[in-house]
Amino acid sequence: MTKAAVDPCIFVILGASGDLTRRKLLPALLRLNAKGMAPDKLIVLGTARTADFDDAAFRADARRSLQSAGMSSEEMSHWCDECLHFLQMSKGDSDDYRRLATCIEQLEREHGTPANRAFYLALPPRAFPSAIEGLGEAGLNRSSGWTRLVIEKPFGRDLKSAQELNALVHRYYNEAQVYRIDHYLGKETVQNLLVFRFANPIFETIWNRDRVESVQITVAETVGIEGRAGYYEESGVLRDMVQNHLTQLLAVVAMEVPSAFKANAIRNEKMKVLDSISPIHPNDAVFGQYIEGMVDGIPVPAYRQEPKVRPDSQTATYAALRLEIANWRWQGVPFLLRTGKRLAKRITQIAVSFRCPPVALFRPNPCPEIQPNVLVITIQPDEGFDLSFEVKVPGDMRLQRQSLDFRYGEVFSDIPEAYETLLLDIVTGDQTLFVRADLVETSWHLYSHLLENPPGLHLYTSGTWGPSAADALIKKHGTKWLPE
Ligand SMILES: NC(=O)c1ccc[n+]([C@@H]2O[C@H](COP(=O)([O-])OP(=O)(O)OC[C@H]3O[C@@H](n4cnc5c(N)ncnc54)[C@H](OP(=O)(O)O)[C@@H]3O)[C@@H](O)[C@H]2O)c1
Repeated sequence: MTKAAVDPCIFVILGASGDLTRRKLLPALLRLNAKGMAPDKLIVLGTARTADFDDAAFRADARRSLQSAGMSSEEMSHWCDECLHFLQMSKGDSDDYRRLATCIEQLEREHGTPANRAFYLALPPRAFPSAIEGLGEAGLNRSSGWTRLVIEKPFGRDLKSAQELNALVHRYYNEAQVYRIDHYLGKETVQNLLVFRFANPIFETIWNRDRVESVQITVAETVGIEGRAGYYEESGVLRDMVQNHLTQLLAVVAMEVPSAFKANAIRNEKMKVLDSISPIHPNDAVFGQYIEGMVDGIPVPAYRQEPKVRPDSQTATYAALRLEIANWRWQGVPFLLRTGKRLAKRITQIAVSFRCPPVALFRPNPCPEIQPNVLVITIQPDEGFDLSFEVKVPGDMRLQRQSLDFRYGEVFSDIPEAYETLLLDIVTGDQTLFVRADLVETSWHLYSHLLENPPGLHLYTSGTWGPSAADALIKKHGTKWLPE
């Protein structure tokens, strides 16, 4: 990872006693520090309402979290003692935000850092508006250096709420200051998609409706809702995975070549893709919910038996969708998206199937039996590429499927965690991997009618690949899900 020098700054985490801070943000900040990417003067100021912390207690709590993340005490001791601070904001009112402003100025004086400030909202989404307003009204939207606002996902729960949240953000911050997180975009393999597509012209020349039969994007999880019924019952699969992660992956796969490798040039092209997606027909959407079954040999309960889930819940934990991009490159090529919980395997994969030969030369293998060449890009786990093709079986005129493959882990070590990449980009001011206001609104718009009128729910057994209705959906397009 090489990057522009990081300015000394103060990194304020609102919600510093939460799971995200403990499991992701603090380890990522420490790793950046250990690699020498973060300056000596990247000061972290945590805040929360109820945690009864002072600096010492916050540091002790951070040490425990960092130890659980597998970090050595040698790595963490200096950093925790020198760089971590805490301010309790028990009321979350304007007085608290004024105290926050005073505390920041005091830390900047003590550490001799310029007024460069990042405010990371590691808060439940319902707390975003009051935090944005609190920061803005306390004048924490500008400084003599730079000021950046980082907002976790989910950004809104539908088009209207996303528009309202954007309006509030823009009342205090301009778009160049705003970093909306979709942590999928921070994954190395997702970033590598841009390199794969735009640095390898052999693929770019066949990346279109003349050569591509279909594109599949799968984000499969084996986990259930992990005790987060309160969140998931309100969210469901469309809000949790499709509107953000899958739609962002689709945009990277389908976008045109940007005019430059710059944040807005890339985001403009992604925006054009989302703008060209035709309304999704209700017959092209399959929603499912898991019932009991076996995952990795262990019996697991049905979604409706999970703690705090309503016994008659209609919340979807699985979605399969067919989208069409009505532009010159992709018109007529189905984009098939699927994601779900409690599926057979944890995998995030993009499969690009190319067209079969126009004439069946190698009988008795007529075209329908020749499988298409497929390029599989695995985002996680076991990141890499596989390109499948047919070879002749020696001594016989029969065809056999083989593949060329590349595995990231076999070639590169020390692949940074998504949050490490994203935090570094925030402090260096690179917005490429963050979701712009128009992108987030357009992606909500795409799914508005499915959110308002969801299709009927198909039950599927945990540990399988989802409801059979999803197989029927893809069969209409003459193909099958990969992996199956
Ligand atoms: N955890 C993850 O792996 C993960 C992954 C992706 C995205 N996210 C997103 O990251 C954000 C934080 O998630 P989390 O898992 O860390 O949540 P969490 O464990 O519930 O922590 C939330 C933090 O916010 C504070 N908080 C709660 N209610 C608040 C309120 N009304 N006003 C101000 N502060 C409040 C909590 O402390 P006090 O109650 O003491 O203030 C706590 O510090 C969420 O938006 C989530 O969707 C999390």
